[in-house]
Amino acid sequence: RLLIIDFGSQVTQLIARRLRELNVYCEIHPYQNVTDAFLAEFAPKAIIFSGGPDSVMRDGSPRPPQSAYTMGVPILGICYGQQVMMHDLGGKVEAGEHATAEFGRAYVTPSDTRIDMLNGWFLDGSGREQVWMSHGDHVSEIAPGFEVFGTSPGAPFAITADTTRNFYAVQFHPEVHHTPNGKTLYENFVRLAGFTGDWTMGAYREEAIRLIREQVGDKQVICGLSGGVDSSVAAVLIHEAIGDQLTCVFVDHGLLRKNEAEEVVSMFRDNYNIPLIHADEADLFLGELEGVSDPESKRKIIGKLFIDVFQKYADQVEGAEFLAQGTLYPDVIESVSFSGGPSVTIKSHHNVGGLPEKMGLKLVEPLRELFKDEVRALGQELGLPASFIGRHPFPGPGLAIRCPGEITREKLAILREADAVYIDQIRKHGLYDEIWQAFVAILPVRTVGVMGDGRTYDFACALRAVTSVDGMTADYYPFSHEFLGETATRIINEVRGINRVTYDVTSKPPGTIEWE
Ligand code: XMP
Repeated sequence: RLLIIDFGSQVTQLIARRLRELNVYCEIHPYQNVTDAFLAEFAPKAIIFSGGPDSVMRDGSPRPPQSAYTMGVPILGICYGQQVMMHDLGGKVEAGEHATAEFGRAYVTPSDTRIDMLNGWFLDGSGREQVWMSHGDHVSEIAPGFEVFGTSPGAPFAITADTTRNFYAVQFHPEVHHTPNGKTLYENFVRLAGFTGDWTMGAYREEAIRLIREQVGDKQVICGLSGGVDSSVAAVLIHEAIGDQLTCVFVDHGLLRKNEAEEVVSMFRDNYNIPLIHADEADLFLGELEGVSDPESKRKIIGKLFIDVFQKYADQVEGAEFLAQGTLYPDVIESVSFSGGPSVTIKSHHNVGGLPEKMGLKLVEPLRELFKDEVRALGQELGLPASFIGRHPFPGPGLAIRCPGEITREKLAILREADAVYIDQIRKHGLYDEIWQAFVAILPVRTVGVMGDGRTYDFACALRAVTSVDGMTADYYPFSHEFLGETATRIINEVRGINRVTYDVTSKPPGTIEWE
């Protein structure tokens, strides 16, 4: 297996993605956890140093354990990872000034192509490769033993390597989509590290089942079922591993979509025979959320109540010692600052960040290493219906974060109806599977309209639909004007309480997918 040492880049997980696509098993660990002892125990076949926001010139900035350099395994350093490697091995790094900082698209040209890692690079005839740069500091002198293999206008050391020790260091980010041929670099790197690319979802399933059995033994497990793909796949996987030692608790926080609760309960009870407790606690959640408009407060309240409610229902399951969750890799990364990791918290996903030890249950998170599309592949592997696996993601805090400002039952009821019409439209037009996520947000403003001969003064809503590969970046979906017009008409005619429909055309970044 391959070890990725995370120095806090927002895109570290994309490195893992690229490697998984090459059927190479890898794990990301925050640099704080990677000690000499850890390295010896992990025994990686290759190591990648991720990028990161820090500066190697700052005292106390993140470092890999120095034994990494003497294990005799190939190392690839990216951006901050390159700077760390140069700094540790005797090169020099300089602080970024405006003139030398580089962000965005750049083109690398070869100064030499004699390294294995460059096989297939620079081969499109143009003699250069588009790459994505994002750095303040830069290497000003390479370490002894290294040679330069590629340069860009802002980065004289864009590609450097010590081919004797198999150390490679690049200034740009080969893992992002804006380095279109970046996958080839990873492919060459893992090949020269001796990986054969034999890791599959079937293998993951068997390994996951083995690990669940090993972790849980003969104890009881409670699974927090949300109705989404993630927790459902987790539940079915765990049920396959330990059968009726699993009880699902479905916390209905009153923030679900139209008919969602009924559908979830019937699917798991009737189709899968998984013991299920339906915790209908809408009153409790909506009561606590009354008057709250701050997004992080909403998340925290919901996260805390979720745990309380869980505890209450967990107590009903005799001998329960474990709590299973469908936590995904992106959840773990974006919330990593909660668990001591290096990247900045954008949103505190309640299913990861808010879980205090006091819960007294140990966590089982069999999807923790997977990306969304990998979870879908696993669901398929486990025989879940295709229509279910293809469902758009739905956030843990539910409609709460699609209702900017104060949440009221009235607004939720309107939102549910509008969302149902919107999704129906998308399905009818055969667009559902092209879209990563689509939903309605009800806005905290009323606007004036005219219907028939009367004046209306109702809520405005925003339609959101994005394409994305992993939820990390996203673009708005280019609906036709006909579709938008027809949908707006349907919503205004069919949903009482909305008299204005807008379409959100913000990408992520700078926006996020959800409104809160
Ligand atoms: P953002 O809005 O951060 O969303 O661009 C990225 C993906 O994460 C989902 N999301 C959440 N999921 N708890 C969750 O379980 C949360 O608090 C949360 N916030 C956002 C969002 O729906 C999208 O798929």
